[in-house]
Amino acid sequence: MKLVAFVGSVREKSFNKQIAHFFRDRYKDSFDVNILEMSALPYFDQDVEEDPPEVVKAFKEQVAEADGVLIVTPEYNHSVPGMLKNALDWLSRVEKVMNDKPVLLVGASTGVLGTVRCQMHLRQILASPGLAAKVLPGNEVFIGKVQDKVDENGKVTDSGTIDFLDAVVNNYVEFAKSLRK
Ligand code: FNR
Repeated sequence: MKLVAFVGSVREKSFNKQIAHFFRDRYKDSFDVNILEMSALPYFDQDVEEDPPEVVKAFKEQVAEADGVLIVTPEYNHSVPGMLKNALDWLSRVEKVMNDKPVLLVGASTGVLGTVRCQMHLRQILASPGLAAKVLPGNEVFIGKVQDKVDENGKVTDSGTIDFLDAVVNNYVEFAKSLRK
């Protein structure tokens, strides 16, 4: 299975980037994870949506070819980081490449809520007609106080979190398979 990943933070030492790398490494027997670059995308522009810049075309093609999408994102001001929302807006138009894609949502924050509010908004956004993605139900991955759950090299060290992620990944793989039948 081939997944593309969207990471909602560009920060060099981003915890969410570290979690995305954890997924790529720990679950390599379940899927390949290709972390896509969203920061190079221009602002969505409806005037050029039929023939967008090459960087947008390439981004959409990579999503179209993937078997599923992993979103790993912080919460900014109780919602979705703008960079991620912008990418989703491009994906929602013309070739609607998110349509029916199995999506796994993951979020990490330094506060206790672990991106609950961001993910509530994300579920609404992903259910919009232009995106119409298939988000794994339940299995809500809210990694709060993430700074206590990774070591200084960015490795996830919290065994409860790792056990939970193992179970969620199993559920996601089964969910993605069930959609292909
Ligand atoms: C935050 N942070 C944050 N945390 C949270 O739980 N809810 C929130 O609404 C916000 N809002 C917010 C806005 C902005 C602009 C920043 C920079 C930060 C804190 C956030 O959880 C923390 O900075 C994470 O470390 C960001 O994720 P990365 O960059 O480490 O992946």
